[in-house]
Amino acid sequence: MANVRSTYTDSVDFFGLNTPMELVEEYGSTLYVYNEDMLRRRCREIKALSTHPGFTPNYSAKANTNIHLLKIIREEGMVVDAMSPGEIIMNLAAGFTPDQILFISNNVSAEELKFAIDHGVYVSVDSLSQLDLFGEINPGGKVVIRFNPGIGAGHHAKVVTGGKQTKFGVDPETMDEVRTIIERHDLTLCGVNMHIGSLFMEPDGYIEAMQVLLSIAEQWDTLEIIDFGGGFGIPYRKYEGQARLDMQKLGEAFHATISEFAERTGYTGRFMCEPGRYIVAECGLLLGTCYSVKNNGPKRFVGTDLGFNTLVRPAMYDSFHDVEIYREDGEPVSATMEQSIVGNICESGDIIAKDRQLPEIMEGDIIGMLDAGAYGYVMTSPYNQRLRPAEVLIQSDGKPRLIRRRETIADLLAMYPEATELTERFRACA
Ligand code: LLP
Repeated sequence: MANVRSTYTDSVDFFGLNTPMELVEEYGSTLYVYNEDMLRRRCREIKALSTHPGFTPNYSAKANTNIHLLKIIREEGMVVDAMSPGEIIMNLAAGFTPDQILFISNNVSAEELKFAIDHGVYVSVDSLSQLDLFGEINPGGKVVIRFNPGIGAGHHAKVVTGGKQTKFGVDPETMDEVRTIIERHDLTLCGVNMHIGSLFMEPDGYIEAMQVLLSIAEQWDTLEIIDFGGGFGIPYRKYEGQARLDMQKLGEAFHATISEFAERTGYTGRFMCEPGRYIVAECGLLLGTCYSVKNNGPKRFVGTDLGFNTLVRPAMYDSFHDVEIYREDGEPVSATMEQSIVGNICESGDIIAKDRQLPEIMEGDIIGMLDAGAYGYVMTSPYNQRLRPAEVLIQSDGKPRLIRRRETIADLLAMYPEATELTERFRACA
């Protein structure tokens, strides 16, 4: 499908049997599109990190909780984490069994802890006070503790989760108190976990932090789970030829580290890593439509329906997503001009691609925001009472399948006490 700017998706046959124009025609704009083969490939790359029998790759579901994607990830042999009762339910709905789910709680209520315990999933707690609460609710139970290894990483301060400046994890210096609380409630520490932060492109910090967690793990002989967390980066700047994370190097170091530990200590439980972005970012993109183009002084604005209600990462973290441009009978264009792609939300920060050198975008063009599969749909909102996009999966046979319908006005009205009356009144548009 040669087009105005589509060499990346062409190279991986992203859209299968349909063009982006046909998909938008059929399912509406904006639209999340996922590619099944790409998703399966990323799962297999993670599984290939180590052949150690205890290696159990764990998908971090917060990146994308669409049940149909979760099912594919399960089929590929991964287990899953959860951050909330809602995520536990999505995981169960996708067919994960409770022993395949690790609830990594953070500042949760007693009810939420009880929910997780009643559903039989592993529970990780994130502070001494929550460990105490867990013990009160579930004396004699098994618990996982998230430690803060004192090392952080990430693409933005808002996503660095290790290190003393962040809210996460139990300080390993407080191990005596940990032991006291565990003994007080007759708990068994069955796992330790950590997560240093999101998006690193060099494996060294992760491997270093693994050693910190292992030195904690070594102090306990009751562990079934040692979970090193996620954070594996993906190249968002594909059109600039950005290099991929070196999975070979990461895998070799990961495998050597866990193998050495198991041999030395006799540990026979699970070793987990927990990527979210690496699994789902690249298999998903977001399509939108250009409705208006204008110049404000020297600045060219491409007006679209790609507001930050549909993909918040650029507005929230100044994140970069590559842009593709599709047009009926479009031809590749090499000449570029500086343009900003903006959405339809009433805020000047509603910019999804800022000051980019791109081929001239025209009204009616379909725009693709690449690498939107992770932290894309899950972070959408109904701000300005706009409707969440539909989600479509390009299956291995190249055919599209609707895996979540577009939100409707009826959905927006559904939570009011007078929902029935309102839906009836606005039936024509609901
Ligand atoms: N494990 C834990 C405990 C986490 O908190 C996270 C992400 C992960 C695993 C997965 O991290 P990943 O492999 O996806 O980097 N919304 C931000 C990312 C926030 C990540 C939060 N925690 C973004 O769009 O970049």
